Amino acid sequence: MIEIEARLDELEALGLRRRMRLISGPQGPHVVLDGKPVLLLCSNNYLGLADHPRVRSAAARAATRWGVGSGASRLVSGTMTVHRRLEERLAAFKRRDTALLFGSGYLANCGVIAALARPGDVVFSDELNHASIIDGCRLSRAEVFVYDHADVEHLEWGLERAGGRAALIVTDGVFSMDGDVAPLLDIVELAREHDVRVMVDDAHGTGTLGPGGRGAAAAAGIEDEVDVLMGTLGKALGSYGAFVACDGTMARYLVNAARTFIFSTALPPPAVAAAAAALDLLETSPERVSKLARNAHVLRAALAAEGFDVESSGTQIVPLVVGEPELAMRMCEAALARGVFAQAIRPPTVPAGTSRLRLAVMSTHRPGELRSAARLLGQAARAAGFDPRARAAGAGAGLTGAHTGARDEARAAPVRAA
Ligand SMILES: Cc1ncc(COP(=O)(O)O)c(C=O)c1O
Repeated sequence: MIEIEARLDELEALGLRRRMRLISGPQGPHVVLDGKPVLLLCSNNYLGLADHPRVRSAAARAATRWGVGSGASRLVSGTMTVHRRLEERLAAFKRRDTALLFGSGYLANCGVIAALARPGDVVFSDELNHASIIDGCRLSRAEVFVYDHADVEHLEWGLERAGGRAALIVTDGVFSMDGDVAPLLDIVELAREHDVRVMVDDAHGTGTLGPGGRGAAAAAGIEDEVDVLMGTLGKALGSYGAFVACDGTMARYLVNAARTFIFSTALPPPAVAAAAAALDLLETSPERVSKLARNAHVLRAALAAEGFDVESSGTQIVPLVVGEPELAMRMCEAALARGVFAQAIRPPTVPAGTSRLRLAVMSTHRPGELRSAARLLGQAARAAGFDPRARAAGAGAGLTGAHTGARDEARAAPVRAA
């Protein structure tokens, strides 16, 4: 049996114990955190839609019209017109035949991966993929080949050794803790060559990248070459839930095989209607997407001027990698004391030795406040005992190590030739 108190003490000693912070009021560029006004620099409300008046009132109207709950899973009596309409809108947005809503991105990844791979198959997964992908791989009970981050040569090496057992390549579109974009063109090419399916988790690219914010796959021009495109409704689209866009056969299969779709209550109508209203806003005012990109550029440039190494990120997610968890926590607190909230991210979310502040830009930030946040983060780093210039110049500022040990597992059990 787990000794719970002892385990909590151990996490505390390792600098890895987690606690929740409390925000009063809606999500926005400025919030009151634990009673103190701060600039919010770690929310995935990238386009400012979670607190947009039109999105809020769409949710309120939906609650009045359809009620607050769907009452059952999709295959029992939970499929309502509001779900069907949003699925049609999302399919059109992603330029695919069909879209299927899931309760969350976590559920979508677990359900889809476990439906597409079985014991005896091999799933190929980037070492920095999100935890929900890792858990989907585990649920599938397939063999998992964890390839080095964004390393298509390593992926190819594994594919060549998998024989006929390769079932699926799965990757984040935009890596959630690093802000870099997967080499999707190369991945799709390898998949074609080796006759293996591809799934892209575009939780952080949906609404932020590509033409009209259609995502990382659209930016790479490969939307219809990906078998399953996953997107979330809880990040740029400001609501809650997720979807997969795919062809009709895949959708019919997932309705029958994805256990997290089958055995979970359908999304509540207000969340669905809010996502639809957010999609309207995205389609009618795509300048939100370019404003986000401009803001991200402003922040990265200002951080670089402070000496931070921000070169690996090309998106609205900007990691400041500091190394050890205690240092990341000290820097987070020093930034908070200066009015900037950027949460510290530690293992197992990121590999050991790469604890960081994960900054997330919103289109609703003002460029001036992003510049001043960069200055305050520079001060916070120095106050915490971290010299960004020394780190940027030295080795090891980039990505090293394994995500929850996944890389080591793969090394220990390489794919065998079939
Ligand atoms: C890349 C990625 N995939 C999936 C998820 C899970 O999505 P959700 O929060 O909707 O469960 C997240 C959430 O942070 C994510 O970053």
